[in-house]
Order: sequence, then structure tokens, then C-alpha cells
Amino acid sequence: MQTKFILGEDRIPTHWYNIIPDMPGPLAPVIHPGTLKPAKPEDLTPLFPMNLIEQEVSSERWIAIPEPVREIYRLWRPSPLHRAHRLEQALGTPAHIYYKYEGVSPAGSHKPNTAVPQAYYNKLAGTKRIATETGAGQWGSSMALATRMFGLECTVYMVKVSFTQKPYRKSMMQLWGANVIPSPSDQTNAGRSILAADRDSQGSLGIAISEAVEDAVTHKDTHYALGSVLNHVCMHQTVIGQEAKEQLKLAGEGLPDVVIACHGGGSNFAGIAFPFVAEKIAGKKVRALAVEPSSCPSLTKGVYTFDYGDTTKLGPIAKMYTLGHDFIPPGIHAGGLRYHGASPLVSQLVDAGLVEARAVGQLACFEAAVQFAGTEGIIPAPESSHAIRAAIDEAMTAKEEQKERVILFNLSGHGHVDMAAYDAYFAGELEDYAYPGEKVKEALSRLPKIAL
Ligand SMILES: Cc1ncc(COP(=O)(O)O)c(C=O)c1O
Repeated sequence: MQTKFILGEDRIPTHWYNIIPDMPGPLAPVIHPGTLKPAKPEDLTPLFPMNLIEQEVSSERWIAIPEPVREIYRLWRPSPLHRAHRLEQALGTPAHIYYKYEGVSPAGSHKPNTAVPQAYYNKLAGTKRIATETGAGQWGSSMALATRMFGLECTVYMVKVSFTQKPYRKSMMQLWGANVIPSPSDQTNAGRSILAADRDSQGSLGIAISEAVEDAVTHKDTHYALGSVLNHVCMHQTVIGQEAKEQLKLAGEGLPDVVIACHGGGSNFAGIAFPFVAEKIAGKKVRALAVEPSSCPSLTKGVYTFDYGDTTKLGPIAKMYTLGHDFIPPGIHAGGLRYHGASPLVSQLVDAGLVEARAVGQLACFEAAVQFAGTEGIIPAPESSHAIRAAIDEAMTAKEEQKERVILFNLSGHGHVDMAAYDAYFAGELEDYAYPGEKVKEALSRLPKIAL
């Protein structure tokens, strides 16, 4: 009854998998927020260094991982693949449940898989400081870690509700040398305009992105970094799925029946699923399922259209599933899933029917997280609990149908810095927010009008 499937450091992938050449159709262009016309690569240079812009639009299927990045990956990669024997027994399911555990990274989630290469490419390009945002604090702490390793400065705009809920995430970022600012702040025009309209605004990822983007474009030595959504970010995460494929072979399994991950901006989903979606595009049978909160259901209730990636319309416009750029999701504890949009690549795959999406409520997710912690031991991040919920539901369907299905999910992070959320759950203080349909309708009335 082997439980952990471990690869040696020599099996850290040598390349990232870029799904762009395998996509079912051409990509929609990225639109310049000022001209409302397709952006050229050089339009993005105030935000990103050219080496990362080139990756964003690359049509090469495999991109070599630079050795200094692989050297840092060695601190925690390859991450283990676990067979959830004890959870399977508790559920009485014939399904084989596997999870890839990304909580073993120093910051406690999958986010350093892209923070490290983003810091590396910025260092190569001569950037002195990175400005970024963070929702749950996982991305900000990952970027603080990565900038520290490459000797860059780091400013993190942290969504105010998380700043209050997760003071120790702030401490982690400070420990790694970052300057952490609660957002909306009075340090940027974007933050000041939000505060003028609502002094008590608890912030959102969209607002924090606006502040970080403004900081980057108004400082010559500073670039912006995004922890999800973009093509190159999704690509950096594909080390997860590539390793999982090899580990499933070690476990004596073929392709899984279903690959599951939670979905905020799409990066951990893309990371575990894209190497399997490639097989699906090539004609193999494998499902890919993205799981999002029912209070912020961009993939299941959003519209597939052009929208701004940030609230105050400073950043590029992309074609994606969106709830409207100024929709502010309820303050659920899975802060990293409170994003109005989605990765354009994941969106296109959902639209093409190659990826499924499902929305789940926060109480059902906490229930699944507690069951998981009680059997497998690991306390999951509230974001990751969305994947656990769906994995348990799939395992119960397999039980009803008496099918020995193989279920693979990504445990994107641990919840050690999220204990306030668990406290609130046990105190009965958490609620399942009704789908804020009216607010979404209102936000969708303010989509940009793009004529291509
Ligand atoms: C642990 C964890 N999982 C998942 C996510 C969601 O992001 P993404 O959809 O980019 O993977 C976050 C975001 O902060 C996170 O912290």
C-alpha cells in the first residue's frame, strides 16, 4: 500500500509545457486599454520585461527552464504525489484518489513555481523592484521569497480583507523583505479613487492589481508581476502536471479519469491539467475539471468576452470568462479565488468543451477540508478545499456506479496560515453567499466595447 510517490531531483522537468501551439483555435488578441485595439508586445514593456512578454506569446511547445530556476526548484521539487488511501477507505469508494501536494514549497503553495522564474527573468532584464498584488497572501509571500533570492525589492498590495484575516501572511512577506501595503491604499490614484467612493472598501484582487500596475508604470526601475491568469504564469506551473504524469506511472496507473484543481485565475488548474489536456486534444480520454466558489463563479456564470483584468481599467483587456471588472466578490475565506475573470487559455478550453467547470459553496468546501485533514492529516488552504470537495464528490459518484476510477487533484497549498478561517467555520460564523446575480448583471453592463 504505497502512499507517496517520490521522484528524485534529477526528475525535475527540464522544460515548461506551452499549450498555445496545441490550442483548438487561434488565441484572441490582447487589447490595449487606451486604444482598445490589439496590443503589440512593446505596449506591454512598462509592465513586464521583454523576456517574459516573449514567453507570453511564444508558440514553441517546450520552453527550457533556466538552470538557476531549476536550482531553486530543487528546494521543494519534485513535489510528492500521494495516494489518499485513508480518505478512500473513509468514503468506501472503489476510486483511486491521488493528490499532488504543492504545500511543500517554502511559501506553502504552488505559487513559487512561477514567482521564481518571474523574479529570475526580471533580474536578467535589469529590473530593480517588483510591484504586485496578493489576495490570500500566498502569491505575495511567494514573490517576496523569489525576489529575496534574486536580490530584488518587492512591494505587495494586499487585499484589505486578507490583510486583516491573515496577519501572519504579512509577517512572512516582511520576513522575506517585502513592503506590504493594505489595498485599497492612499498610495496610488487607483486606491484613492476607490476609497473616495467607499472609505470602508475591503478591497478585491481587481483593485489590488490596479494599484500594483499603476506603481509599476509610474516607476522606471519597477516591473509588475501577476501570480495567475497570464499564459506564461500558467506555463510555469506545468511542472506540476508533468511530474504527476510520471508519478502516476510509478503508481501503476495510466491516464487518470479526471484531473481536478481549484480555480481562481487558473494557474494551478493549468499547471496540473494542461499536460493532460494535451493528451485529450490528441484524442485520449481524460476529463479536466476546474472548481470555483459559487460566490465568484466566473467560469460557470460569467460571460466569455473581452474585459479588463483589473478594476480601474489600467491593465490590458483579454478575452476570458468574466463577471465584470468592477464586480467585487463577497469576502469568502478562499481569498485567492476572489477574481472576477479567468485565464484566457482556460477560458478558451472551457468554451471549446475541453475543460469542465463546477461551482461549490464555501461551507461544503470546509466540510471536505475537515474530512481530508481527519484522514490524510494535511490541513488544506481554503482555496484547495474546493478541489477536495469535487474530488470527494467524484469518488462518491464512482462508488454509486461501482467504478474503479482514477481521480487526480491538486492540493495547491496548506492552510497553516488560514486557521482564522477554520476558527470561523467551527464557530458557525461562515455563510454560503447566494450568487450575487444582480451585482454581476450591473458589472457586466460596463464591459468595454471592442470592435476587431
Ligand atoms: C493555495 C492557493 N490555491 C489556489 C489559488 C488560486 O489561484 P490560481 O487559480 O491561479 O491557481 C491561490 C491563490 O492565491 C492559492 O493561494
